[in-house]
Amino acid sequence: MSDQQPATDLGPDRAAGSGLDHGLDLSLAPTPPMGWNNWNTTNDRPEFNEEMVLATADFFVSSGLRDAGYVYINLDDCWALPERDRHGDLVPDPVRFPHGIAAVADYVHSKGLKFGIYTSAGSHTCSPVGFPGALDHEEQDALLFASYGVDYLKYDNCHNEGRDAVQRYTRMRDALLATGRPIVYSICEWGQNSPWTWARGVGHLWRTTGDIEDTWASMLAIAKQNLALAEYAGPGHWNDPDMLEVGNGGMNDVEYRSHFSLWAVMAAPLLIGSDLRTVTPQTMEILLNTEVIALDQDPLGVQGAPVRSEGGLHVLAKPLADGGRGVALFNETDQAARIVTTAAEVGLPAADGYQVRDLWAHETQKCGGTVEAEVPAHGTAVYRVTAAE
Ligand code: GLA
Repeated sequence: MSDQQPATDLGPDRAAGSGLDHGLDLSLAPTPPMGWNNWNTTNDRPEFNEEMVLATADFFVSSGLRDAGYVYINLDDCWALPERDRHGDLVPDPVRFPHGIAAVADYVHSKGLKFGIYTSAGSHTCSPVGFPGALDHEEQDALLFASYGVDYLKYDNCHNEGRDAVQRYTRMRDALLATGRPIVYSICEWGQNSPWTWARGVGHLWRTTGDIEDTWASMLAIAKQNLALAEYAGPGHWNDPDMLEVGNGGMNDVEYRSHFSLWAVMAAPLLIGSDLRTVTPQTMEILLNTEVIALDQDPLGVQGAPVRSEGGLHVLAKPLADGGRGVALFNETDQAARIVTTAAEVGLPAADGYQVRDLWAHETQKCGGTVEAEVPAHGTAVYRVTAAE
């Protein structure tokens, strides 16, 4: 909990992640948002287009991703033209989106999914092409997004003219609220202004770090930064360590399983960042691991935190709604290692025995209180541990 949000300010609704906080409806994100965003796979390349987005929506349904909880189909930068129209409105790029954005949103909605869009709290978005940002156009752009049927806005930080971040992000919150449309609001200022200290009640989630890259080193550095911020997250107000790279090819599957496991233990948004038309069955097995997803989406909404970290071997624990603990044994080193913890260390009450569910092997074992595994280099073992009845 941040210094600026003392516990005494929390009404019961707010603490449970429902109700309003400064007008922001926390119940729009009672658990971390799940879905897809094109950026990590396409960047600004031409394959980001209507065809890709519609195919992704179709695939969400046919592959079981939707049923596993992935809901948002989100467009990132480069969906618009470099100039506003004569009314000052943003214009969808007619090459990428020949039928406009509302038609894409309608299609996404027709599949039982939700639709997200992107702009920047600056004069321009981050792409070097220089698409228009929403700074000083907040109300007009929010109304346009609402008219498209947008359910989620990612609001970036490029070309912000050095203006105050709290004011910029709050003005867009108010503009979104004024549309009357429920819109999940994702603040993307890269952790530059410590948003965990002020963004609760401004947005539903906030990036805590710079951009992730599809490398082990980048994923690891971001995970470590975000792990330190566990106390600031909760229902309706999540830390966002950036979108998933799972399936993009820069890490091996052991590393991608670690990436996915760490994001789940951290109650991070799970926004798939790969091209689902070309991913491997191994990638789908990771993304569709419903037991790891359940850890991320646990209704208690507590971000897991390290209980011990020594020499690159980490024990992380996440309190769960049923009184159990999510436990990750994470080996960041280049050699396999044995990692051992106990029920007491991860915060479980004393009991005669414990059930230990391995969320990657999908097996349950009983133990007397010790949880241990031989964890491969860069690997993570993840368990759900509960006191036996
Ligand atoms: C910034 C954001 C990224 C992505 C790009 C788009 O770098 O942090 O997530 O949205 O802009 O240009």
